[in-house]
Amino acid sequence: MAWPFFRHLVYRVTAHFSWPVGRPAPLTAPVMAASIRVSCSTTNLTFSMSEKPYAPSCEQNRDVILTVLQPRLKGVRRLLELGSGTGQHAVYFAPALPHITWQTSDLEEHLPGIQLWLADYPVANLPPPIVLDVATDRWPTAKFDAVFSANTAHMMDATMAGAMLSGVARLLPPNGRFLLYGPFKKEGNFHGPNDRAFDQRLRSHDPAIGLKDIAWLDQIAAAEDLNLVEEIAMPANNFVLFWKKNAQPNRLAD
Ligand SMILES: C[S@@+](CC[C@H](N)C(=O)[O-])C[C@H]1O[C@@H](n2cnc3c(N)ncnc32)[C@H](O)[C@@H]1O
Repeated sequence: MAWPFFRHLVYRVTAHFSWPVGRPAPLTAPVMAASIRVSCSTTNLTFSMSEKPYAPSCEQNRDVILTVLQPRLKGVRRLLELGSGTGQHAVYFAPALPHITWQTSDLEEHLPGIQLWLADYPVANLPPPIVLDVATDRWPTAKFDAVFSANTAHMMDATMAGAMLSGVARLLPPNGRFLLYGPFKKEGNFHGPNDRAFDQRLRSHDPAIGLKDIAWLDQIAAAEDLNLVEEIAMPANNFVLFWKKNAQPNRLAD
């Protein structure tokens, strides 16, 4: 091999292939992306190839979500993220919230992708992802004082979404916080034609899934001593629903 041929060369090849399944943002699932990086230098020859999943919606919504999270996660030390997907939110939020150990989780098949993102964006407060199917009773036994999840409830059937809320309630200590971002119905109504079309598209893939009603979610949550303290309207008709364990309803977090 004529190594000098590679001297002074730096290649960076990135390709993205995406198949959006839903509304422009957020998407229903991480779209596929391939990223191939080949780099060479005079002193060090490295070839690294990674195929990271890539969700364009994460780039679009991460700043507005972070703005909501920052004041509401003050004093939190350990947070569990449910359905981390690609891991893009985690690698963006964790460095901005350095007081929080941000534990990613998802169904087993998503862990390799999350690991690739974590490897590319190493920070001390991002431990390796863990397997967590919210519909099972195999929830972590470690202590967490907050839970975050984005764009998951509409991907779940009713039983699963209920199990997510029950699992969160079991996991959290008094005053523990749960922030759930995504599109929701309100009083049975969609927030415009885009949400209705998105819901129909989801149901055409799986009739059991689709946008959940905020009141329906909150009824389950309230039975588990999770109190909805805020319902924050976000761009593109999304919301952040903020529950606190054993808190007074309609009161902002301490
Ligand atoms: C639309 S993606 C959202 C991913 C990421 N949070 C985001 O906002 O880009 C939905 C995620 O929910 C996860 N999910 C679906 N059912 C789940 C379950 N039963 N337990 C845990 N995660 C689940 C999927 O694996 C997927 O990562």
